[in-house]
Amino acid sequence: MSTPAPDKKNDKKIEVLRERIRHHEYRYYVLDAPEIKDADFDKLMNELKRLEAEHPKLITPDSPTQRVGGKPREGFVKAKHSSPMLSLDNAYSQEELRDWERRVHELSGRTDLEYMCELKLDGMSLALVYSDGRLERGITRGDGNIGEDVTLNVRTVRSIPLSIAKDKLKKAGIPPDFEVRGEILMPTEAFRELNEQRERQGLAVFANPRNFTAGTVRQLDPSITAQRRMDYFAYLLLKDGQTFLDRQSKAMDAMEAAGFKVNPNRKLAKNLDEVWTFIQSWESRRGSLPYEIDGIVVKVDRTAWQRELGFTGKAPRWAIAYKYAARGAVTQIEDILVQVGRTGKLTPVAALKPVPIGGTTVSRATLHNLDFIEQLGVKIGDWVEVERGGDVIPKVVKVVDDNEHPRGKKEFHMPEHCPVCGGNVVRTEGEADHRCVNANCPAKLQGTILHFASRHVMNIDGLGEVLVNQLTERGLVKNVADLYKLTKDALLTLDRLGEKSAENVLAEIDASKQLPLERVIYGLGIRFVGGRTAQFLAEHFGSLDAITKASTEDLEEVNEVGPRIAESIVEFFADEHNRKLVSDLRKAGLTFTGQKKEKGTKLAGKTFVLTGTLARHTRDEAKKMIEDAGGRVSGSVSKKTDYVVAGSDAGSKLDKARELGVSVIGEEELEGLVG
Ligand code: IVH
Repeated sequence: MSTPAPDKKNDKKIEVLRERIRHHEYRYYVLDAPEIKDADFDKLMNELKRLEAEHPKLITPDSPTQRVGGKPREGFVKAKHSSPMLSLDNAYSQEELRDWERRVHELSGRTDLEYMCELKLDGMSLALVYSDGRLERGITRGDGNIGEDVTLNVRTVRSIPLSIAKDKLKKAGIPPDFEVRGEILMPTEAFRELNEQRERQGLAVFANPRNFTAGTVRQLDPSITAQRRMDYFAYLLLKDGQTFLDRQSKAMDAMEAAGFKVNPNRKLAKNLDEVWTFIQSWESRRGSLPYEIDGIVVKVDRTAWQRELGFTGKAPRWAIAYKYAARGAVTQIEDILVQVGRTGKLTPVAALKPVPIGGTTVSRATLHNLDFIEQLGVKIGDWVEVERGGDVIPKVVKVVDDNEHPRGKKEFHMPEHCPVCGGNVVRTEGEADHRCVNANCPAKLQGTILHFASRHVMNIDGLGEVLVNQLTERGLVKNVADLYKLTKDALLTLDRLGEKSAENVLAEIDASKQLPLERVIYGLGIRFVGGRTAQFLAEHFGSLDAITKASTEDLEEVNEVGPRIAESIVEFFADEHNRKLVSDLRKAGLTFTGQKKEKGTKLAGKTFVLTGTLARHTRDEAKKMIEDAGGRVSGSVSKKTDYVVAGSDAGSKLDKARELGVSVIGEEELEGLVG
């Protein structure tokens, strides 16, 4: 017996390892039922990476290490669909559903049809073309005939198999060349977390998970897509653009058997009554799903009858989407106004037909910026769904477009001149916001003071828009420190302000001096420093003086403070006017010191670097965990690094750690260290 060539032997070893990893990816990302610990999975992955690094010739595109690859692109290439990707007709009531069934009965000449009921997932439809069991292309719906090739992004979605073993396909009854169509989506929790993170970083936010999905699928840099925690559910199985199994229910089972994620919440109904029961049972429970659905799709199960029924213009006759009512309130956008804030930012605000939501009447909702308006496709006159989440400001989450709510026609344009001062409006390259560039725009000063006086900042009750406008227009207040110099006599010169109110406002201003340090920091209005960051800064430094003297490096040690925020803080205190302002506030007697938060000591003196995607914690959470235990988190690996905490898809930092002999640990070990 001859010994196999070394490359052959390694090839075998690598392929066995890949199959093991694929199996565990499947258990984790498709079944949500892992069999091994994350750290052990990471070990397998690292072993594969090591072997592949030693034998680069043996790397194949379907290797689990190759999910994120390729450079950011300029744009997407168009790709033709094997057969049109259609949309669905909608039904909004039981009656409309019965009408649909009546038509189906008439056209097919049968009344013994069974219906496949599936959740209508609210993401974006996506075709996956497999050739010889390997994922060849991912294509967006586009106009239904031609979509965009988004393969590199699609490959980063862990629940999408990059390759499927031949025998597995065979067992499932699927040929090696086939296509699945399904929905790519962002789970609600990931949406919330990522959007909040964006908001904190001053980036454009997305209105809903669907829009975030669309933005992510069309993201030009696949490494960004990889961080977005997308998921995919398959719901159609085709060969040469046609169904080939005799039932939709069988196609669902076959895709499941082949290793695709297929939504388990489905039912083969014998008649429309069973369909209705399914629809109703999910209407009340849909909030408990980890992703959004907007209805139920009902499909004639037998593909032979489907073919007989055929299509109308753009939708199949053999399926219908029952749409649930909006969860938020639906109202009309009567106009879009523009507000100018303390940073000069122009914020488009929807003037809504007043509508009650959770006990209050809502007539305004922010539209953030032009990107947001374009992302939603909002026009004046549109009907929109408005929600009130945890916070007070109502949000426009989507445009409603159905028979009862025709689309608006009037397009919104950002003004070229500031609506307050007439100054020039500019949009900096790469930024979502338009700004008034006039440094003396009264709106900036008014916005700064209103922010300072607001409830979550210095809580000066009675200092509202009308009073602030008068104070600034009369030149009585030129910055927030001037508030503390106001006298009763000065206030009494203002219109419609009685003695009692003047006294009240002065008492409120005086009382604000007692508020803790973090409020003062927040009140300064430093760009990117919100209430939460102010709190972390106060806890870390313990005094405003320490913050004014801190370097960007010192600042970056603070929880959730990255280079951008750190720079903005340093820039703020480098400015002469701002330093004068701080000194005036000190003279006025505001709180300049606080309690430094005592850190744990378990990790004192230890430096950590985080890399890859952690499964159980966000980066920020892991950072906080380390810092609360007295450790330090740094951005790059050096000889001084004590531990590299590696999640999945860890890249060059992990290699660097190996090179330098730095200990590499997983999330669980970190939890162990922190205790
Ligand atoms: S079947 C011709 N099944 O709904 C068949 N679509 O409004 C059309 N959708 O573009 C697709 N869940 O993006 C089908 N279980 C499901 C679905 C589903 C969500 C989406 C899909 C489609 C849209 C039509």
